[in-house]
Amino acid sequence: MSIQEDFRLAMRRYIYSVSVMSNVGTNGIPNAITVSSVTSISMDPPSLLICINKSSRIHDTLEIGSKFCINLLNKDQEELSNICSDEGRYEQRFSDENWNLDNVPFLENAQANIHCKVDQLSSYHTHTIVVGLVEGANSLSNIATLTYVDGEYR
Ligand SMILES: Cc1cc2nc3c(=O)[nH]c(=O)nc-3n(C[C@H](O)[C@H](O)[C@H](O)COP(=O)(O)O)c2cc1C
Repeated sequence: MSIQEDFRLAMRRYIYSVSVMSNVGTNGIPNAITVSSVTSISMDPPSLLICINKSSRIHDTLEIGSKFCINLLNKDQEELSNICSDEGRYEQRFSDENWNLDNVPFLENAQANIHCKVDQLSSYHTHTIVVGLVEGANSLSNIATLTYVDGEYR
């Protein structure tokens, strides 16, 4: 087996929390993408990072200073995760009634919302590491996070 295949199998053993990253482009079109690569960086300043594939629709809309939201999904939002990770279902991404589209789109019924501003963009081959400065966050009291391991939701 190749190093890539060994690495892929090893990474499938991690348990990921599933989020949807959302923003609105300068053209006014909202974007949403399922992501598992969200990691906190520091509390001072409050910051996180996400690794975004350069081939994704949202990628080129992520500019320094632009706003986005990380919406941590609940166990019952598996279908939304599927929609936001399926190129063919792009038109359905904002059909869920729980999206608040007043400004930067965010999911009103998410397990948590973390509102950020892009602080740094770092290119790494196929991906860009996006550093977000946290401008606000909220979370539900009951813990029911949607998780993903070995290619399946748990
Ligand atoms: C559980 C899960 C986690 C994912 N995590 C990431 C991620 O962290 N970064 C990324 O670029 N794509 C990730 N993807 C893949 C994108 O969601 C998928 O390629 C999406 O269709 C890209 O957006 P687009 O269709 O608007 O181009 C993930 C997919 C799933 C199912």
